[in-house]
Amino acid sequence: MKKTIEYPHYPPRFVVLIFERMRHLFMRLNRRFTHPNVAVFEMAHNLWLAAGLNVAAELGIADLLKEGGKSIHDLAVLTGTHEESLYRMMRMLASQEIFRETKSRFFTLTPLAGALQENNIKFLITSHLSKRQFHLFGEMMYTIRTGKSVHEIVLGNKVFEDLGQDEQHNERFINAMTNVSLMQISTILPVYPFKKYKNIIDIGGGEGLMMAALLQKYPGCRGIVFDLPQSAGLAVKFIERYGIDDRCTFVAGSFFETIPEGGDLYIMKNILHDWNDESCLIILRNIAMTMPSASRLLIIDPVVEEGNKPSIGKMTDMLMMTALEGKERTKDEFRILLDQAGFRIRKVYRTISQLILIEAEKA
Ligand SMILES: C[S@@+](CC[C@H](N)C(=O)[O-])C[C@H]1O[C@@H](n2cnc3c(N)ncnc32)[C@H](O)[C@@H]1O
Repeated sequence: MKKTIEYPHYPPRFVVLIFERMRHLFMRLNRRFTHPNVAVFEMAHNLWLAAGLNVAAELGIADLLKEGGKSIHDLAVLTGTHEESLYRMMRMLASQEIFRETKSRFFTLTPLAGALQENNIKFLITSHLSKRQFHLFGEMMYTIRTGKSVHEIVLGNKVFEDLGQDEQHNERFINAMTNVSLMQISTILPVYPFKKYKNIIDIGGGEGLMMAALLQKYPGCRGIVFDLPQSAGLAVKFIERYGIDDRCTFVAGSFFETIPEGGDLYIMKNILHDWNDESCLIILRNIAMTMPSASRLLIIDPVVEEGNKPSIGKMTDMLMMTALEGKERTKDEFRILLDQAGFRIRKVYRTISQLILIEAEKA
């Protein structure tokens, strides 16, 4: 039976912006009123918090608590873990409002713990905080000294080769991307006039959730999800599950070689930030060669805010730099890149998050 995508709901942009400002103000005040040694040491605690989040997500504790609270004894039995160690980890997480110890050694969900459930961002957490990531970031100094990703040094190959060689790891990565997409799509759909396009091609479209969202919303559109052969299995399943198989196909290939023809809109969501400028130029020039002049290119990526403003892009940039030799970019950096590849920016659309949509045409 056709499944309709369920999105998280967010408040309007102006409300989000006001709350963001307040949050950052409180964060700064919090730091001002804390001794610098303590404030910085507290930041370092995030390593242990992150490790605990990963273990809790891997064990599926938030899903086990969906129907109601459980004693630590029951949780340990259900997850096959050491009761006392599990208790100490849960106590630490509860101190951060992730789970609540409502009576002695008895835990319930909190809104933050709910985020660790399968239908929220469980897979994003287990993918971003996996053993592989801890290995990579243990070697971040190499990246800082050389400007090169540590992936090949630590794991012997590049990220997408690694994914192609390990089916389970690839599935976990794609599930993580699905989690990200679910969060992002509801912020993207209202800001861009997708409806006016007839043939949409999602370059590096992964499992095809973005395409499913577009085709479910706009019955007049058709689509192609283009990605590496390793994504085919999941993408074909998704295309069927979301009932768009009569208007959507999956095409396997590499954007370093060819790009499918015939789109009037070419989308690249969370793609350019995976690559350095040289690689981006190859991808963009391949698109420019294939894309008809009247077609549009839509880049969807986080934007790095100028100056010292907090910005998720400044954080994910560490991942792009260390694991991928990729890069999050400022608006200006996107403009220069597109210019070099033979594109001209037509319009930039902002979402409620730091994700921006850059619509470009061939120069
Ligand atoms: C960060 S994910 C983004 C997926 C999706 N666009 C999204 O926003 O959820 C990057 C995607 O690029 C794909 N990819 C990597 N190298 C590729 C290549 N050479 N050709 C085509 N797709 C590629 C990966 O398989 C993966 O699906």
